[in-house]
Amino acid sequence: MANSFIKSLIITIPLFTTIKFVMTVPTSLYDTYDYGNNSNLTYCQAPYSFVVEPIYKEDIDLLQFAQNVEHNEADFFLWGALGKGLDEVAPELVLGGPRPIGVRKANLDDITEKIITEFAYEEVGHLRILKETVGGIPRPLMNLSAAVFASFMNRAFEQPLNPPFDPYINSLNFLLGSYIVPYVGLTGYVGASPMIRGNIAKRLTAGLLGVEAGQDAVIRARLYERAEEKVPPYNYTVAEFTDRLSKLRNQLGKCGVKDEGIIVPPELGAEGKSTTNVLSANKDSISYQRTPAEILRILYDTGDEHLPGGFYPSGANGKIAQQYLSKP
Ligand SMILES: *[C@@H]1O[C@H](CO)[C@@H](O)[C@H](O)[C@H]1NC(C)=O
Ligand SMILES: *[C@@H]1O[C@H](CO)[C@@H](O)[C@H](O)[C@H]1NC(C)=O
Ligand SMILES: *[C@@H]1O[C@H](CO)[C@@H](O)[C@H](O)[C@H]1NC(C)=O
Ligand SMILES: *[C@@H]1O[C@H](CO)[C@@H](O)[C@H](O)[C@H]1NC(C)=O
Repeated sequence: MANSFIKSLIITIPLFTTIKFVMTVPTSLYDTYDYGNNSNLTYCQAPYSFVVEPIYKEDIDLLQFAQNVEHNEADFFLWGALGKGLDEVAPELVLGGPRPIGVRKANLDDITEKIITEFAYEEVGHLRILKETVGGIPRPLMNLSAAVFASFMNRAFEQPLNPPFDPYINSLNFLLGSYIVPYVGLTGYVGASPMIRGNIAKRLTAGLLGVEAGQDAVIRARLYERAEEKVPPYNYTVAEFTDRLSKLRNQLGKCGVKDEGIIVPPELGAEGKSTTNVLSANKDSISYQRTPAEILRILYDTGDEHLPGGFYPSGANGKIAQQYLSKP
């Protein structure tokens, strides 16, 4: 396996028995861990279980599910910033999945283009380490056309916006389009964390969560700087867009408030004392969590994990999503 190494870990315990564990560990997860010297293990790494646990079946399913969201972000960001997608940048990660529908280069200012380019390559790294660790899934069919984003916006405002919203026409619209998916990925990683069993998958989930949360924070902070501006040519401010989109996601997810716009009433802000809401979090300022079913209800834009649509017209891939599809 590329970028991985096989380590034999030999532990001699007092009963003069030798137990040998053979594991495949992706290098980027444990790169500073010195398996060969047990005397100074804790200095650069947390002292997690000495015996590296295997990847559990449940972990594989959860982390393969996450690839659906990573694929969405990868192609949206790659195309938006670079005008080409995963098929061109890392075709080995597509695994036979069809090309996304309706993606294109966005008309971005210099700073936004640099940031989105970075995010795009981060998604490529995420897909690679996920493939190395739990095996990749074929990229699902994704409809990333302006019309899908427009349909989310129309539903959020409970009326058709005129002209229809297009995330590709300028930086502000692209950031509003980017408000939709990475946050959902973030809540998915938080939701997966208590279900993950093995150390390798825990380490990976935390590392993915960190970067997804960072991306979401950057997107929200850039939107917050323009919170009171109207989004041309509409008569709604940036803050109203985020508020409406968050309410829509709550409504589609059907599990209460797990999503908040960038300006909120104080009762939803940090310690009830802030209306500024650059980060969306619960009353203890802890990130909200969502299950795979909630995520599908939102990203399918149908409110039903059994009924594909929205970004995934044929449904998402991997065992978890496919099980919902097979049971209407
Ligand atoms: C292992 O640890 C010992 C004691 O800290 C140190 O002297 C030695 O150099 C280490 N070996 C390696 C390969 O790092
Ligand atoms: C453990 O490793 C760190 C980093 O390499 C080193 O600075 C430290 O002195 C080591 N501690 C011991 C007890 O060997
Ligand atoms: C993509 O989504 C839009 C909006 O729902 C829809 O009009 C269009 O037909 C879809 N494209 C394909 C190829 O499914
Ligand atoms: C725009 O929105 C403001 C505040 O919601 C409202 O007072 C105003 O009438 C609206 N203007 C148009 C042209 O719809």
